[in-house]
Order: sequence, then structure tokens, then C-alpha cells
Amino acid sequence: MSAVVDLRQHRDVSGRRPSGPLAVVPPALARYVAHVESLLAGAADEEALAARVAGALGELACERDLLAPEQRIGDAETYTRHLLYADPEGRFSVLALVWMPGQGTPVHGHTAWGAVAVHEGRPTVALYEYEPGYGALPRQELQCVPGEVSWVRAGIQYPHRICNTSDRPAITLHTYGRDLSRNPTGINILV
Ligand SMILES: [Fe+2]
Repeated sequence: MSAVVDLRQHRDVSGRRPSGPLAVVPPALARYVAHVESLLAGAADEEALAARVAGALGELACERDLLAPEQRIGDAETYTRHLLYADPEGRFSVLALVWMPGQGTPVHGHTAWGAVAVHEGRPTVALYEYEPGYGALPRQELQCVPGEVSWVRAGIQYPHRICNTSDRPAITLHTYGRDLSRNPTGINILV
């Protein structure tokens, strides 16, 4: 199904990215990157890979002081993307997203597999069922706590959204199976 989607018309262009990776990768992030590299070297299928990356990301999300002050900055207008790491070979990217109260994504799928873990706050992950001809039908809504993880395969067939319905900022960590260093919004396909 995703093959017939014109991505130029389905880009989620919300979400700003005011900061790039730090010059020196922090130790906890370096360990996580090495773990992801080892998982990529294995023979797991996409879903198993995303699930294993999510498990590792959940551990990273429990690291205190993981983010530099500039990587925790939000924006009153829209949720904020901070690129933490981009694999030099373009195989994956790691980001932190900052959600101010009331901010969220549209319903979307991904152009690559993805994993998410809550670092701070209580954001909500909403899952949908994709019905060709009808679009995304609500299926499940989960308010998450720090350390909780989720993952998704590539494609419009796996619609979801993240929103922060709490009254405090939230921060989530993400890993996507593609290079987002030049175009961080290129991961989302609106459903
Ligand atoms: Fe997503």
C-alpha cells in the first residue's frame, strides 16, 4: 500500500529541530548506538529488529542527565525534534522530541521502522487500524510513563500518533531506520 502513496503530499512538516548532535557523543548514547549497530548486524526481520531496538531505547530512556540543556528545549508553537545521533552509514537516526502540553502529531505511518521510549513526562500513544478506503480507525490509547517503549514497522498500514495531554512537558526518545540528518520530517507519512 505504501508504494502508491505520494510522500510529497503526505509529509508531516510539523515539529522543529533547533539543535543538532553534540560534538562528543555522551557515553550512555554511545553504548546505545553500539547496541543498535550490533542488532543491525544480526539477521532479525524488521519487526523483531524494531522491538529489540525499542528494548535498548527503554534502557537509554532511564538514564538521568542524558540530554544537554539545548536538547530539552521545547517550542510553544509545535513539538520539537532534536537530532541526537545520525549513523554515518545512514542506517538509523536517534532523536529526542519535546512535547509541550497539548502538542501532538497527526495520525501517521513511517517511511522506515521506528522505536520510541518515554524519557520524561506522560505522553499518550494512540494506535489505529488501517482500513484501505477508510483510513485510520482508532484502536487503543495508552498514557505512558518513563521507560515505556513502543515500536512500529514501516508503512502507512501502521498508523499511530503521539500527543501530550498532560499539563507538563514530556520528552520521548526515538530511533528510526533511516538517515534523518538532512530532513528530520521525512520519517512521517500522514494517513
Ligand atoms: Fe510515529
